[in-house]
Amino acid sequence: MDYFEYRNGELFCEDVPVKAVARKVGTPFYLYSYGTFERHLRVFDGAFGDMPHIVCYSLKANPNGALLRTVARLGGGADIVSGGELYRALEAGIPAEKIVYSGVGKSREELRYAIDAGIRMINIESEGELRLLARLSRNMKKRVPVSIRVNPEIDPKTHPYITTGLKKNKFGVLWADALRLYREMAAEEYLAPVGISSHIGSQILELGPFIEAVTSLKSMILELKGRGITVEMLDIGGGLGITYKDELPPDPAQYARAIRENLGNTGVTLILEPGRVIVGNSGIFVTKLLYVKGTAGKIFYVVDGAMNDLVRPSLYNAYHEILPVEEGKTKTEVVDLVGPICESGDFFAKDRELASLKEGDLVAIKGAGAYGFAMSSNYNSRRRAAEVLVKGGEFFVVRRRETYKDLKRGESIPQFLEV
Ligand code: LLP
Repeated sequence: MDYFEYRNGELFCEDVPVKAVARKVGTPFYLYSYGTFERHLRVFDGAFGDMPHIVCYSLKANPNGALLRTVARLGGGADIVSGGELYRALEAGIPAEKIVYSGVGKSREELRYAIDAGIRMINIESEGELRLLARLSRNMKKRVPVSIRVNPEIDPKTHPYITTGLKKNKFGVLWADALRLYREMAAEEYLAPVGISSHIGSQILELGPFIEAVTSLKSMILELKGRGITVEMLDIGGGLGITYKDELPPDPAQYARAIRENLGNTGVTLILEPGRVIVGNSGIFVTKLLYVKGTAGKIFYVVDGAMNDLVRPSLYNAYHEILPVEEGKTKTEVVDLVGPICESGDFFAKDRELASLKEGDLVAIKGAGAYGFAMSSNYNSRRRAAEVLVKGGEFFVVRRRETYKDLKRGESIPQFLEV
């Protein structure tokens, strides 16, 4: 469910015509619907009802400050994977006690920052990290609540780049090792083993893998209890999928029910780390058709957005629905929708039947709210796009388009090259 729809043949985001935003900010740009984002957060949170839980929005999906402020306002927390995300979360007003930190390669500096901030829990992903954290906690004389991210060895049946819970993946710790690490932690003066965590992958479209994960985490919790270690938090990560084309993912209520039923009465507080399911369909990417180019029996629609703006089609061969901002043309054409970047991998769609368009027309790429702007870059020295938030009949630029000057920010010329 989202608030992007056609009215009288024209695409709207809530009560704002997409065309009006393009006129004001130029193209390309990301357009987010506040109403959709807020609704997804509320529905997800509401699905867990009175179960003790914290919804820790996964910043990596989309860390725009206006969205984070919304999360803070609604009482949500944050799932972070870097010092930069910790900074953003705190700046947005998300309380430290609702922030959890995962990631295989946290640096000493990042760990110190997290300890200093007093976040809810640090999810340890290796023996080396545990050692470092133990040392830091002793030096800083601060109690550090930790969990071990276990690798439940489950196949989430999703794209190989976004599976994380398989034995061969770099994430988490195998159970046999985790048990040993929990014992080591218990002997540390300043480390408090308060939780257990896992994340099995992203864009998961069935309940099965989640049920398997929860079932095995439950037995781990019980085994720990048997050894005198009582964890009070279970972090089951994110990963619930969304509809890009015709996928039928479980809805948050089904997801929550499956977790509740399989977890039983363990008495833990659940930590949830949803990203895509909250923000994915809350955003579109809007780009303008520059040229229609016919070559060797193929038609290319060349647009002003590119893989540096939205890399998912190039990187994962991901499908995103593509809509004309002005509807009403019944004629279609089979085209490649491509960007201006000097790579054949720079495409949004290949051999796709799209409404036939002419130069200057606007195109909307749907499902772009998650891992869209967040994964954008300056490749080809392209300025990163503007981000715009719509609420009702108003819109707000929540990140301006970069300037040429922004491209050189932080660079310096060594003295020997100065004129
Ligand atoms: N928690 C952890 C520890 C994660 O690694 C991730 C995503 C999440 C939560 C949020 O997962 P979500 O609810 O969004 O599925 N760039 C890829 C997705 C990478 C996901 C990485 N980890 C894409 O565009 O599909």
